[in-house]
Amino acid sequence: MNILIVGAGGREYAIGLALSKDEKVEKIYFAPGNGATDMLGENIGISDFSKLADFACSHGVDLTIVGPEGPLVEGIVDIFEARELTIFGPSKQAAQLEGSKIFMKNFLKRHRIPTAPYIETDRLQEAYAFIESLETPVVVKADGLCGGKGVIIAQSHDEAKKAAEEMLSGNAFGHAGTRIVIEAFLDGYELSVFAICDGEEYVILPAAQDHKRLLNNDQGPNTGGMGAYAPTPLVNDAIYKKLEERVIVPTLEGMKAEDMPFKGVLFMGVMVVDGEPMILEYNVRFGDPECEVLMPLLKSPASELFYKAATGNLKSAEIRFHEAYAVGVVMASKGYPYQSSPLAEIIIDDIHHEELAEHTHIAYAGVTRGEDQKLYASGGRVLVCIGMAETLAQAQKRAYMLVGQIHFVGKQCRTDIAYQALQGG
Ligand code: AMP
Ligand code: GLY
Repeated sequence: MNILIVGAGGREYAIGLALSKDEKVEKIYFAPGNGATDMLGENIGISDFSKLADFACSHGVDLTIVGPEGPLVEGIVDIFEARELTIFGPSKQAAQLEGSKIFMKNFLKRHRIPTAPYIETDRLQEAYAFIESLETPVVVKADGLCGGKGVIIAQSHDEAKKAAEEMLSGNAFGHAGTRIVIEAFLDGYELSVFAICDGEEYVILPAAQDHKRLLNNDQGPNTGGMGAYAPTPLVNDAIYKKLEERVIVPTLEGMKAEDMPFKGVLFMGVMVVDGEPMILEYNVRFGDPECEVLMPLLKSPASELFYKAATGNLKSAEIRFHEAYAVGVVMASKGYPYQSSPLAEIIIDDIHHEELAEHTHIAYAGVTRGEDQKLYASGGRVLVCIGMAETLAQAQKRAYMLVGQIHFVGKQCRTDIAYQALQGG
């Protein structure tokens, strides 16, 4: 099987790495890939969706997997399917679950899926009145895609009003913010839960926890994610059952009934409040860095999972996971998340340690290959160090052993990934 992976991050590297170990997979292409994905396959520099579909036809690509939300929301799946190409991901219409927070919240309401009370509006006076009616903190969200920056948790009514005003005027996020959602703050602990869906059936993956803040103890600015681990012991069978019955099944049934069956990754941002899972948001793709810890937990061939989901055959798939834990620690560049950083050579200690060789690996993200063939950190989140073990504590220790062997100027990482679970919640 030949596979094309769309995207350039650690998530796409992790998917490629899992597929590279699958004996059914012959060749992997990345569009555009990064400076390290060329170790797993071939990078191609095509971004136009129709040209990419031409490439898939002419190169015998059997399956295309889309990593990021951008191409999904822009309709890459519709273009490939019109050419009768097999592609894993939701249609443009179904991708609105991530592309529009208003669409998502209204969908949840229509199908009685638990979420925070909210209004959607494009009028400032209506926003002010609803803000006043809520207890602080108040959450203000831009409707459209804002690269993970469109959510403001305002500590006071005044701060919430200011955020609403800046969004509605177009100053904050341009057109993406001229309609907003205002909602009540949910106080609990957060989970990332992923279901691989084929339109009707689903496979639920081990629940993960992301660490969105830059600094230890969840301090500092929000980022795309500084580390993740799975499975999290903060989820028990009762929560999985509630998620299936109250969230996943009604979502798949609702999407089908509304003529946009959901195929791809349903990423549920969940807040557990007093034991009850509530949906914060949906994304229509894997989380990054969650994907980097979930892919190595997959025991059955990755191609089976993705191909059967893409072709509506999940029912016939037998998907198994390792009974192990994975912890992923992001190493980011100096300026992250504010500024770009100069290129910095990545140096990995050449010390052979059996424990590291067998139970750790790197998922590369923001890296460039220099003319000297060396790898350089090129900014943002550079790479993820993954440790695997039978216990979470051991997996964490191994991930950090690997972190200790990797050097580049300006590197920064959290030193407490998985702390909530290790402290018991
Ligand atoms: P979202 O992009 O909607 O997931 O929001 C980004 C982050 O903001 C989430 O991961 C949560 O940490 C936080 N957040 C969003 N909505 C709420 C809410 N209603 N209550 C508490 N925290 C929230
Ligand atoms: N790690 C969260 C996300 O990918 O949105």
